[in-house]
Amino acid sequence: KLVYVLNGPNLNLLGLREPTIYGSDTLDDIAAMLEDRAQELGLTIDLRQSNHEGHLIDWLHEAQAEEAVAVLLNAGAYTHTSVAIYDAIRAIKTPVIEVHLSNPHTREEFRHKSYVGMAAKGSIAGFGPKSYLLGLEAAALL
Ligand code: DQA
Repeated sequence: KLVYVLNGPNLNLLGLREPTIYGSDTLDDIAAMLEDRAQELGLTIDLRQSNHEGHLIDWLHEAQAEEAVAVLLNAGAYTHTSVAIYDAIRAIKTPVIEVHLSNPHTREEFRHKSYVGMAAKGSIAGFGPKSYLLGLEAAALL
């Protein structure tokens, strides 16, 4: 059972980037934590990061073609801007679980709208790296 874990812009800088908001764990740390839990749950994860909107869209299409059981998607700031990602999520049958480290609803007004959330199966936000773990638990229940 394959789960794609897709990460958008600036998430390659996790650990260095605004640590008071996003914490000190790197994306590699999160990947290692997810690998361990995925093994216990009998899931295989494919974790990727890109700063480019189109890559995220191609990977959403690919997740369906590869028959992934779910996609965890932290689209970074594209969450709040991308109609193209909204369309891609709606275009595929693969369930997409929106994930955020921070809780965008407690932050700036421009983060309150989520195009990803409007198309996703469900959303998990505000638990730091554990948001990804909770997302994986949700994927295992699908
Ligand atoms: C984020 C929240 C977004 O608003 C922000 O643009 C990010 C990270 C999060 O994981 O908390 O890049 O998706």
